Amino acid sequence: MLVKKAIFPVAGLGTRFLPATKAQPKEMLPVVDKPLIQYAVEEAYAAGVREMIFVTGRHKRPIEDHFDMTFELEVALEQAGKAELLEVVRSVKPHDMECIYVRQAQALGLGHAVLCAQRLVGNEPFAVLLADDLMVGSPPVLQQMVEQFSEWRASILAVQEVPAEHTRRYGIVAGTPVNDRVVDVNRIVEKPAPEDAPSRLGVAGRYILTPGVFHEIASQPRGVGGEIQLTDGIASLLRREKVFAFRYEGRRYDCGSKEGWLQANVELALAHPEVAASFRSYLKTLAL
Ligand code: G1P
Repeated sequence: MLVKKAIFPVAGLGTRFLPATKAQPKEMLPVVDKPLIQYAVEEAYAAGVREMIFVTGRHKRPIEDHFDMTFELEVALEQAGKAELLEVVRSVKPHDMECIYVRQAQALGLGHAVLCAQRLVGNEPFAVLLADDLMVGSPPVLQQMVEQFSEWRASILAVQEVPAEHTRRYGIVAGTPVNDRVVDVNRIVEKPAPEDAPSRLGVAGRYILTPGVFHEIASQPRGVGGEIQLTDGIASLLRREKVFAFRYEGRRYDCGSKEGWLQANVELALAHPEVAASFRSYLKTLAL
């Protein structure tokens, strides 16, 4: 297994979802019946990752609790003979999965968050998953990326075509196409204005990175928004190593925005074995 560790930066404030995120981490917002962070962790697990590193901040205890054992709940479900629910609860953290928490004392940006996990990652390739990008793919998007990584043995960035007017929301890459899905990256810019964007290929919240990126991030000045940007670290890495952008197969829901989160809820409900049929009939009654 080539990618064993994943970083989940979860220290952000989630201001776009206030007041829902006033006393609750945005990563714990549910889509249908699972918190966002669990979708990301399941995606990493499906890709073979077993060591989950959460870069947390203040008010993020619910995330730690979620991946911990809930003894009283398990006993209660067991006594009530609710075997299925017990399984749902237990499967949140499979036995062979390890969760590690490291604190990002100051919110200095995504690059800084990744750097906080450097000592835990050590000198091996690792994944970064941003939980507010909910990815639905078959195979799961990170698994597709691990396959690309084993082919290229270089950093892989998940990308998708974004509308020209949205380039300010993303890291934008440009480079030489290698095949239908892969681009050999020669430029990456964080959140450029449409007129400055080198392409319309936007980075989605999934990365597989080589450990060389830590050194590059550490030497970055503050970038866009006064933050230490992961994108800037990758831009430096490009001068020393190959980096590939990969157009994944699947759908991304931007659950950092209300609209994306609502879309995820509707579409995942329509695919959920328990509620799909009745929810579909309900939507029809709305006759919008
Ligand atoms: C971050 C990254 C950006 C990337 C985006 C994907 O931005 O800085 O390069 O395209 O995630 O969701 P954020 O959305 O955290 O502002």
